[in-house]
Formats: sequence, C-alpha cells, structure tokens
Amino acid sequence: MPQKIIIDTDPGIDDAMAIHMAFADPRLEVVGLTTVFGNVTGKQATRNALCLAEMAHYPAAVAGGAETPMTREPQPPADFVHGPEGFGTLPAMRPTRMADTRNAARYLVETCAEAPGEIIICAVGPLTNLAAALALDEALTRTAARVVVMGGSAARHGNVTACAEANIWNDPHAADAVFAADWDVTMVGLDVTEKTQCIPADFEAIAAQSPVIGSFLNEATGFYFDFHEAKTGTRSCFMHDPSAIMAITDPELFGFENTPISVVCEGEEIGRTVTGAEGRRPVRVAMDVDSDVARRAFVELTGRADAVAGARRTEDGN
Ligand code: BDR
Ligand code: CA
Repeated sequence: MPQKIIIDTDPGIDDAMAIHMAFADPRLEVVGLTTVFGNVTGKQATRNALCLAEMAHYPAAVAGGAETPMTREPQPPADFVHGPEGFGTLPAMRPTRMADTRNAARYLVETCAEAPGEIIICAVGPLTNLAAALALDEALTRTAARVVVMGGSAARHGNVTACAEANIWNDPHAADAVFAADWDVTMVGLDVTEKTQCIPADFEAIAAQSPVIGSFLNEATGFYFDFHEAKTGTRSCFMHDPSAIMAITDPELFGFENTPISVVCEGEEIGRTVTGAEGRRPVRVAMDVDSDVARRAFVELTGRADAVAGARRTEDGN
C-alpha cells in the first residue's frame, strides 16, 4: 500500500518540484494539498496547487489555508525567489477544479481523523496551518502518523537572515507550536536541503522525458536558477522541498540526529531554530544526505511524471 501523505505547501518553484515528484512516485498516495502564504499569497498558493494537481491529473483534494502568520507581522511574498505568480516568469494559470470547502486546518484535522495513524503530514511552507489545526483539535497529534517539516537549520545558519530559514521565519510562533507538540516530528532543514543541488541540465533531461510536466518545471526553474546564481555564483539550485518528500520515501539517504527544537519568536534572531530545548519531545533532525543519489532519484522520478499522469488519465477517463 502506498504511504498516504498530505503536503502543506506554498507553491512556489521547489514546492512544484516536490509535488510533481510525489505525484509521480508509486510509493506515495498524495491525499491532499493544503496551502499557505509564503512564497506567494495564500490565494495564489491555492490556485497554484489546484493547477499542479490538474496538470498531473491527480485527484488530490486542495484546501486553502492561512493568508497571514499567527502573531508576527506578515512579510511580503518571496517573489524575488519564485516570481510574481510563484512559477518563475510563467504567467498565472487558471485552474478549472475547485478547492475543498473546508479550510486547511479543518481539512487536516478531519482527514487525519478519518484514517488514524495512516497519513504523514509533510509541511513545506510556513507552519501556520499545522499550528491552527493543533489549536482546532490537539487529537491531531495522535491521528496524524507523523510530521515531516522542511524548515529551519540545526547549524546556526539561515537563508532569509543569517540564522533563520524562510518557512520558520515567516511564522516562528506557529513553528514553535509544532515543535512543542507531542507528536513525531522530523525536521529537514538547510543542513541537508542546501547539500542537494540540481543544475539546468537536470531539468532539461526531465523536460526531454516528460514534455508537459518536465517542460513546465524546466521553464519555471530558470528564474530559480537566476536567484541562486546571483547568491552563490553557481548556476545550481537547492532542493529544499523535494528533500522533505525524500526523507519519507528514502530515509536511508539521510543521517538523523535527535534533539528537541524551539524557535526564537522575537528580536534579531527571530525565526532561528534552536536545538536542545528542555522539556520537549526530541525531533528527528536530518543532518546528512547522500546528495548524489537524492539528485538522481529526483531526476528519475520527475522524468516519469508525464507517463504516470497519462496512465492515471487513461484509468480515470478524464
Ligand atoms: C523554503 O522556503 C521556500 O522559499 C521554499 O519553497 C522552501 O519551502 C526554503 O527555505
Ligand atoms: Ca515551500
């Protein structure tokens, strides 16, 4: 049986990579996508998630969620990383499908309650929806199988500030609530997500094999490569969100350490994840990754995206 997951996401270029990789992976059943502000506005995130599911003929539910952080002042969308509509220079796409009528928090609570212990929540955006879901019904800590978060860094290292990673920095209070809750959490942070990098030739290869979904990813990533090249001097990109999915499908590629995590919620270090917090349940923190194998697995899986989507379309007759 494939592993059921819900992806909580702010799509976003690397979110799109992660989602299409997950859609193409027969080891996963993506039950739903819940959306959150971050790389784009909340409304854009929902629209983009609907478009990604539609592109892959994937029957995942899409539930719209938080538009703003719990407590801190909202930050502008990261359009300088992901483009004005979320997918680089590509114009806004218009979905034909509708979102679920429930908001993301309620969707998470109710869907996990219907299949207790079966669904992994993989959060690759700010953690506002997860914190809202915990506030709505703390039984989620028992009905969700576990949580895998792309965010933070165990080393004192950041990508928005010197010590804060974007997803945590966007809503530090929510992230702190998620790390404080009594559930099984894995943190896949910059410690590993910056180690796995792809280059333009990887996306050209994916596009050659999957002319629809691969070409979409190839076109969207041009902008993402521009951002990374300006920052690092190298035309390669960090594989943030796909790494979180891979920590579910291919945990043997990672080295983990267990430590409780707390989040700095104000001041100069706002958004920093701090290891060794007292009185909290340990979080499984990814510290190492076999980045060559991870990169090749990403290219291979997303290269099959059109074939898998085509087979799904034939099965469903739509
Ligand atoms: C994270 O922030 C977002 O820009 C990316 O989609 C990823 O989830 C990386 O810091
Ligand atoms: Ca993301």
